[in-house]
Formats: sequence, structure tokens, C-alpha cells
Amino acid sequence: MPTITVDGVQYEVEEGRTILQALDDLGLLMNGVDVPHYCWHPKLSIDGSCRLCQVEVEGMPKLQIACDTRVSDGMVIHTTTDRVKSAREGVMELLLVNHPLDCPICDQAGECKLQDYAYEYGALQARTVEPRRALKKKVDLGPTIVFDQERCILCRRCTRFCSEIPATGELGIFARGDHSVIETFPGMELDNPYSMNVADICPVGALTTKDFRFKIRVWFLEDVPGICTGCSNGCNIFLGVANNKVQRYVPRRNDSVNDTWICDAGRMSYQEIDSPSRVKASLVRGEDGVLEARPYAAAVEAAAARLRRLVESKGPGVIAGVASAHLTNEDLAVLKRFLEALPTESAGLPVPRGEADALLVKEEKAANAAGARALGFEDAAPLVERIRGGGVDGIVMLGHDLLDPAYLGGIEALQKLDTVIWIDTHQSDLRHVAHVVLPGRHAAEKRGTLTNHAGRVQHLQPAVEPTFEAHAEGETLERIGRALGLTGFGGDPAAGSPTASSRK
Ligand code: SF4
Ligand code: SF4
Ligand code: FES
Repeated sequence: MPTITVDGVQYEVEEGRTILQALDDLGLLMNGVDVPHYCWHPKLSIDGSCRLCQVEVEGMPKLQIACDTRVSDGMVIHTTTDRVKSAREGVMELLLVNHPLDCPICDQAGECKLQDYAYEYGALQARTVEPRRALKKKVDLGPTIVFDQERCILCRRCTRFCSEIPATGELGIFARGDHSVIETFPGMELDNPYSMNVADICPVGALTTKDFRFKIRVWFLEDVPGICTGCSNGCNIFLGVANNKVQRYVPRRNDSVNDTWICDAGRMSYQEIDSPSRVKASLVRGEDGVLEARPYAAAVEAAAARLRRLVESKGPGVIAGVASAHLTNEDLAVLKRFLEALPTESAGLPVPRGEADALLVKEEKAANAAGARALGFEDAAPLVERIRGGGVDGIVMLGHDLLDPAYLGGIEALQKLDTVIWIDTHQSDLRHVAHVVLPGRHAAEKRGTLTNHAGRVQHLQPAVEPTFEAHAEGETLERIGRALGLTGFGGDPAAGSPTASSRK
């Protein structure tokens, strides 16, 4: 492996890498070794157009662009000399000749590379007297993105993204020289399943998403690391949180899972957290057949009472458990223990399915199907047959995926059951047949782990607190188990982690 020296420190790097790639591989780029850059992006082809990444390489008379200069053994690189600083100042001055002084009204302010580097390398006063270039504002590029042509610095990240990642190629550079502008090709819109990533990679405020634009200033957001639960890929994300509300998802780089991308559907799935369709109250069906709101503890007692009566009259074998592939491994481990303690062997795992693609999106539309299978939960098809055949009288239902057309396809087969205990985050037709309803927690509201399609176990931490009483599903099962007096369910489920698996 070649050895290079950067600012006096020696590093072993991989053969054939450029200086920026080598620094990125070492985790040092903008994290110990600052080489400002606009056009280079770790997951796109090299463009070499912005010239901001110039560094001094001993033995080379001119400054070199670090994004397109390959390392060689013994290379000595300087990133902080006066020559390098002066080159950066020159590039910034040229970029700022035409850039509007928009920061106070620009949505990118606070996370803008032009703003950041202007502070570090910008001139205090402009030397030009000519008016700034006037171009199109608020250009509607398609269903998700708005474009401000004046703010664009022509780094071509967005055009390369569209050509190289979704390979839809909607964007191009039109006209020449200082007339160059980004536009969609005639007759095309920027419309692909990954389109919103262009807003993340645009280093300035030229590309913004319609969803997040002008919603909140980014410095009010806390970025909480999390996992997208839209499919079994388990893309790594940051949840942007303000005022106990998730305002957006943006990708979090993980080269083993999602590189630096997420799909648009997954990105927009943050809206499910604060959706009006959340199950917000504990409900118990009264003598008159109507669901009535009850305190959580009373609903837990009611669930236990119904299950106890069924066990005493018909035995635990008539009770089935329905696992949810949306739950954490910790929640599912409690469900498994709960069913074993009843004891019943009747359980099933419905997994919703949909379209997949060759990039990130997986067929299984749940984050933890692999984890549920690893815990021993098998597909729900045999359970569906058993329910239809009258072999089940009571059911402990986590989530509502059993209603998917691939399984029960509706509530009809559940209408004759003696007991339906339903624990879920979102409303469904199950409210028509459930005897007890208990609110669950979204993945953004709890601690635990999810296992993605490739078997990678990834951590969740709470980013927000529900504004109503809701407990992790494992904790609710712990409480029902304790109320039933099941073996191993004697502990205090409120102690320790909200997912009760580690307590006994
Ligand atoms: S719109 Fe943004 S990403 Fe695209 S070329 Fe302009 S500055 Fe670069
Ligand atoms: S590919 Fe799947 S996990 Fe990744 S962002 Fe999209 S829905 Fe979420
Ligand atoms: S990052 Fe190297 S030229 Fe743009």
C-alpha cells in the first residue's frame, strides 16, 4: 500500500485512489483534514469542475485538484499553506461574483457549503460593480423538487446523480460559458423514486424539496440517528427533530447499507409518525358492543381478563399470536416468550410485500421481517388457514398486516372470534373486531434493534415521545403477561428499557 504524508502525518492508503478518496477512506476528510470541495461526492463520478479542492503536492509545480489526483507512494501533500488558502479564496471570489446574497431567505442557510466556505475563504467586499446575473427563481422541476437557478454553482452533482444512480438522466447543463444553466431535458420532469436525494447533495440552496422547503430553520433541528422502516433494506437516516416532532428524514451515510441515499417513499414515511391515523387511545369493547376509551392500565387488565377466561374455558391452544415485522427484535422476543408461557404454539408472521428495485428498495415492506424469522416466527399462511377453519378462538394481534390481501384480506374471518387483543400504531379495520385496543410505539419512539434483509442488526433510539399514552409493544405484552400471572412475567415492565425484553 502506498504511504502518503498529509500535513506532516504519514498514512497508508489504497493503491489507485485519489487524494480525496484516500482521505475519505481514512475517515479524515473534513474530519481532521479539511479540503473544501463542491463537485466531488464520494458516490458519484469525478467531475473536477469546481477547483476548490486544490492542494500543494511536493514536486509538482502547480497546485493539484485533490479529487482527481491519484496518490503515489511517498507523495507529500499540504492542505493548509498560504498558496492553497489563496487558491481557495480565488475560487470562492469567482463563485460569489454571481451568487445572490440570499442567505437570510434561503432554505439551505445553516447547512450550506457556500455559506460555510464564504465565512472561511470569502472576501469581505466584492470587487465587481456589475449587477449579478438574474436567472429563474422557483423553477418547478417535478413533483418533489424546486430549483433556484441563480443559486446554482454548476457543480453538476445533480446531473451526475440522475445519470448514475437512478439512471434516469432528467437533468443536464444547457448553454455555454457564463450562460450555462441546469435544466430538465425537453419534455422531462425530475421524477424518479430517488429524486429528493438531489436536494441533499446540492451543496447550495439551489435544489430544495417541496416537502421541507421553508418548514423550519435547520439550526432548530436535532439530528437523531435512526433507521428507515419503509422496507427491509433498513436505510440509515437522520431524523430531524424539533418541538418533539419529526420534521424530515435525510440519509445517513452507511456504505454497507444505503451509501448516501434513501428512496423518496422512505423519506416521506416520516409523516406516519405524527399521522392522524395513529392509534392514540386504549379502548375496551363494552357490553353494548361499543369500543370505549379506558386508562391504559385498565385496558391491560381487560385484555388479561379476556385471555384468562378463554384459557380457563378452552385451554391456551385456542389462542394464537400474530407477530409484526415492523416490531423490534426486543418486542418480538417478548411476544415469543408470552406465547410460550401461555402456552400456545399457534403463531404467524404476515409480511407486507410490494415492488423492489435494483438500488435500495426491497420487496418486503417492513423493517424487521428477518429479525422476526430469526426468532422463529414463520409465515402467517398456515395460521390464516387455521383461523378460517375455526381452530382459533382468541388472537393477540400485533399490527394489522394480517388484513393484507395476501393473508386474510379483511376482517370477516375474525368476526366470529371470542377475543381479539389488538396492539398497533395505526388505525385499520381491526377496530371493528377488536375487544381491546392498545396503542403501540413507532420505531422513532423507542429503543431496540432491527435486522435488515441482509442480517445486519441496527440500533434504534427514541427521537420523539408520543403525545398520548403509548408503550412499546413488548412492554404492553409484559404487563398483560404479569396480569395473567404467566411464568417469567413478574418483573416491573416500567423499569429499564421501554422494550421489556431485557427484564424478567
Ligand atoms: S443545482 Fe446544485 S447540485 Fe445541481 S449543479 Fe447546481 S449547485 Fe450543483
Ligand atoms: S429503500 Fe427501504 S429502507 Fe431505504 S429509504 Fe427506501 S423504504 Fe426506507
Ligand atoms: S471537488 Fe475537486 S474540483 Fe471540485
